[in-house]
Amino acid sequence: MYKIIKKKQLNSQVFLIEFEAEDLALAANPGQFVILRVDEFAERFPLTLYDFNPKTGTITVVCQAIGVSTKKLCALSEGDSVVDIAGPLGRAEPVCDIGKVIFIGGGVGTAEVYPIAKAMKRAGNDVTVIIGFRTKDLVICEQEINSVCDNLYVSTDDGSYGRRGFVTDILSELLETEPYDLVYAIGPIIMMKMVSAVTKLKALKTIVSLNSIMIDGTGMCGGCRIKYNGQAKFTCVDGPSFDGHLVDYDDVLLRQGRFKDKEDEGNKHYEHNCRIGLKKDKGC
Ligand code: NAD
Ligand code: FES
Repeated sequence: MYKIIKKKQLNSQVFLIEFEAEDLALAANPGQFVILRVDEFAERFPLTLYDFNPKTGTITVVCQAIGVSTKKLCALSEGDSVVDIAGPLGRAEPVCDIGKVIFIGGGVGTAEVYPIAKAMKRAGNDVTVIIGFRTKDLVICEQEINSVCDNLYVSTDDGSYGRRGFVTDILSELLETEPYDLVYAIGPIIMMKMVSAVTKLKALKTIVSLNSIMIDGTGMCGGCRIKYNGQAKFTCVDGPSFDGHLVDYDDVLLRQGRFKDKEDEGNKHYEHNCRIGLKKDKGC
């Protein structure tokens, strides 16, 4: 069992949750993820680590309450526990002094930028971060990211905060002004596809972090398979980070939507159970 010691709401749907998890905190590195199971009836789902602290023995994730499992997790309170957390999983991000790096965070993916930008700044890089949201009320992690970078740009699609438009608009402008050594993007698949299209024109190395549907997280089930440079790769063990110019994004998008009917059905059932007041252990 892993106990929640802190929970904070970041926007209407997104929560920061800190767990007591000494073993995981000791082993974790930036870019890795965990697979959680909220209770014995729940499915397993991956969440990238937002933070970890070996001194306090805690790990922190940022979760969007969007499907049944994430809603179950976000409904828990400080003092509650989840039944298990497996990890840390995936390859840790190599942290070294590369030079000038641009990180791009889209929506809830912004939270995952924080640990890697922090580590890359500590390693001596010049770190610029662009974060984008649909609207002002959805902005998350702005202060935290600002504290670990040299320049921060914020965009909203509707112009209600920061620059109006997509993160790619700011990226294109920055790439016209000076040379950069690396771009690192985390967010919706479509955003990572568009970022990669922009940087490909400049032959600028680009890393993207993929959040495929996962089951075991250890390379055995094949659930997280992607097409990469003409080969099959597993996001859980070969990633989650990949060269953005070699990912077949259309295939990733197709595979990500393949359980949409079941997810919608599960969501309806969950909401119904919540409305009629069934307890958590009966599916709410
Ligand atoms: P969103 O749809 O609100 O988009 C966030 C931002 O991405 C937009 O404001 C915009 O700046 C940019 N964007 C979106 N479409 C774009 C396009 N066509 N071209 C250029 N830029 C575009 O994001 P959301 O609803 O918060 O969803 C976040 C997504 O991030 C989810 O799909 C989630 O699965 C994913 N995610 C990924 C990771 C990861 O590790 N890769 C982690 C957490 C979340
Ligand atoms: Fe099963 Fe990656 S989650 S192979």
